[in-house]
Amino acid sequence: MAILEILQYPDPRLHLPAVRVDKIDEATRKLVSDMAETMYAAEGVGLAATQVNVHQQVLIIDVSPDRSDLRVFINPEVIRREGMVLNQEGCLSVPGIYDNVERADSVTVTALDANGSRFTLNASGLLASCVQHEMDHLQGKVFVEHLSELKQNRIRAKLKKRQRKAA
Ligand code: NI
Repeated sequence: MAILEILQYPDPRLHLPAVRVDKIDEATRKLVSDMAETMYAAEGVGLAATQVNVHQQVLIIDVSPDRSDLRVFINPEVIRREGMVLNQEGCLSVPGIYDNVERADSVTVTALDANGSRFTLNASGLLASCVQHEMDHLQGKVFVEHLSELKQNRIRAKLKKRQRKAA
C-alpha cells in the first residue's frame, strides 16, 4: 500500500472527467487500497480517484465513526434522488474550507464493488451527501463550484496564497 498525493484545488487536473472502468483487476484493487490508506491517513470520509490524479470512475467512502466500513464504488450511477438538504461540506482537495452545499437528501446508487459485483445502495444523510460529493469529483467538479462566484474567487485566492507560502 502507499499514500498517494492528493491534488489541491485549484489544480486543473481536478476538472478532468473520469472514464468508466471496463475491467476490474489487480491494478484496480491496488488503486482502491492505496486510496483507502490515503483517505484514512488524511482523516477524510471520502476520496475519488480524480483527487489522486487517476481519472477512472472509482470512489471510496467511510462515514463510520470507527473507520471500519469502507465502501467502494466503481462506475457509480445515481438511479434515484429525493428531497433536498443543505449540509456543510469539506474536501481533502480544499483543506480548511467548509461551506453549505445543497444536495438530494436521499439517493439510490448502483455501482460495482472491488470484486466487480454489482450492488445497489439506498443512502441518506451523510452517506448520501458524500456519495454525491465524490461523484461530482468524477465529473471534474469540486464542491466549491456549488458556491457563488464571489466565494469561489475568495477560496481560490486564499488557497493559492497558502500554496505559495508552503512552496
Ligand atoms: Ni472532495
